[in-house]
Amino acid sequence: MSHRADSSFFEKKREWSKQKDHHIEYYLPPYLQKVKELGRPILLVDAFAGPGTYDDNQPGSPIIFCKAAQFARERGINVEVKCIEPDPDLFKKLQRNIAPYGFAEPIAGSCEENIDRIEKWAKSYTVFVYFDPFRPTQLRWETLQRVCSLANSMRSVEVLVNFHAPIFGRWARQYLTRPLPPLDPQVEDIDGIEDSLASVSDSLGPSDTLGGDWWRGFFDNEKPFPSQVFEFTEGFKQKLQRHIAEVCYADVKVAAHHSVPKYFMVFGTRNHHGLNLMNDSMVKAREIIHYSGDLETVAKMKQILYALVPHCRQGQVNIDTTIISAIRQFPARMSQTEIRSIIRDLIAEGVFVRTGKVSFNKDSICQPDSQAGALF
Ligand SMILES: C[S@@+](CC[C@H](N)C(=O)[O-])C[C@H]1O[C@@H](n2cnc3c(N)ncnc32)[C@H](O)[C@@H]1O
Repeated sequence: MSHRADSSFFEKKREWSKQKDHHIEYYLPPYLQKVKELGRPILLVDAFAGPGTYDDNQPGSPIIFCKAAQFARERGINVEVKCIEPDPDLFKKLQRNIAPYGFAEPIAGSCEENIDRIEKWAKSYTVFVYFDPFRPTQLRWETLQRVCSLANSMRSVEVLVNFHAPIFGRWARQYLTRPLPPLDPQVEDIDGIEDSLASVSDSLGPSDTLGGDWWRGFFDNEKPFPSQVFEFTEGFKQKLQRHIAEVCYADVKVAAHHSVPKYFMVFGTRNHHGLNLMNDSMVKAREIIHYSGDLETVAKMKQILYALVPHCRQGQVNIDTTIISAIRQFPARMSQTEIRSIIRDLIAEGVFVRTGKVSFNKDSICQPDSQAGALF
């Protein structure tokens, strides 16, 4: 089962793994606080767990899960952790590493072998499932779809997926006998790409992993590879949205100037509160990495808000609803607080009019007629 690239993965925690972990570190505390209100026990499932700790003693996702759960349990929240790992050597390490956390259970086997259990847990727990495979072929669409579909049957289930869109893209182009994009460190982090590609190309085709051939159109064209990768990820989001209502994603780059990310963190929830919370966590993770509220992002957000807020003649919109609509269109770029502050600025500048003085979030806004046609 182990691949050369895989066995060296846990020797040292790489920068991009830290970036990936920021998403769960920031998300879990407010998530646990929020879902405790549902009054059901909570279960964090690390479906691709690994050993729990890297050889350089840095925590892996199982330990991050356990620490978040411990913190919550000390505050009276009923939360448990399950960590799934099929590799026997890694499983032994996992057992050892999470042993101090009595509420955490290591489970031997693959994610697919445990899918029935995940479905069973969702009947009595509020469940968060993290899918962090080494390679695209390790997580099959059917597995992801079964978990996401639980959200449709009114179960409280959220998913976070490490989506390897750039590797999928190369695999897809290879499959379509199109030339592969050159390995250029100015464009992307090239570490591990050849190894990952070698490990997928001798297995089944992309359709087997992606649940159909919907991916073809994204790569069977002359567009530049970075655009293909982003559009394909948007396509994946839309496919997921048929099963879980709110989906957003953040690109994880090793360097700010890269136009092709290392991978995407894709999140699904049935609830807009979950989307708000994950958006804020993705923004925080992004700020730590390299970006902050740059002028381009602010300008784009203003344009989105401008399109969402009607003119006086056509009515008003609620500020809270406007913020969530803006996040749906442009996720992982600005926190709710930052978007609210832009709305405040636009009100102060007279671009928007606030209609009512109850509470800022519950109030409505519109554009004065005189602003019709104004551009940023
Ligand atoms: C990228 S590593 C996970 C790293 C971990 N999330 C962390 O941050 O510490 C992927 C893990 O999934 C395991 N794995 C491979 N195929 C799997 C499958 N079908 N189901 C569950 N786990 C699998 C691998 O053995 C490996 O330990």
